[in-house]
Amino acid sequence: MTLTKKDIDIEQIVGNIAEQVRKDFFSTSEEDLVQEAFEQVKEAYVPQRKTYAMTTDHLSEETKKNHESLYRKEVEVLTRLSAELDAADKLSVDNNHSVYRSTKKDEITNLNAVYLHELYFANCFDLNSELFLDSLAYMRLANDWGTFDVWMADFMACAMAARSGWVVCGYSLYLKKMINVFVDEHDSGVLFGIIPVVVIDMWEHAYVRDYGNDKKGYLTAMMREISWDVVEDRVERIDALKKVLG
Ligand SMILES: [Fe+2]
Repeated sequence: MTLTKKDIDIEQIVGNIAEQVRKDFFSTSEEDLVQEAFEQVKEAYVPQRKTYAMTTDHLSEETKKNHESLYRKEVEVLTRLSAELDAADKLSVDNNHSVYRSTKKDEITNLNAVYLHELYFANCFDLNSELFLDSLAYMRLANDWGTFDVWMADFMACAMAARSGWVVCGYSLYLKKMINVFVDEHDSGVLFGIIPVVVIDMWEHAYVRDYGNDKKGYLTAMMREISWDVVEDRVERIDALKKVLG
């Protein structure tokens, strides 16, 4: 038997399919649709732990190991948090308590901890530390603070003001100059729009074992071993960024 167009009304069939698709689509709740959209967006990242040669005589081997083990754990936790955030329920988020909120807060803490530790490991421990008067770093700091010594006095004051935390000199995208800030713990008092240039760990684990309560003695030792080559590279990158941002 031969089928004719009368027997197979293609337009009718297509219409029926379209109607079914429409019903299926609109029968899906709005929440399900949003959840499906979230599932399409994968946010997870895997931070890579780096190795640093802490070539300094100003810190004991025990203190160096403490830094390394804390840094390793921060990277591990951050990796886990990244995956957890990727799968977190984002529909029943609450600002009093929710898994998403807690995990997001911990992500910020550990991301800062990893980043600041890496900056510190890279810009300290240079046994041949040397700052040239014609370097960009020296000229920028001297220019933005009046003199280099004024910058350093303020930087050290910031370090002494930090509780368990960090001292950071960085370029403020808003003020368009180098400024000094301190951060209590890893995430209290963090300033937006600052690109770090010099970072020193001011947590107790960084100095108590070797310096007791002599925080200033530890700080002075670290300042003597700043890798100005690393700082110069950061300042050059900021200059390149300034050209783009204006
Ligand atoms: Fe540390």
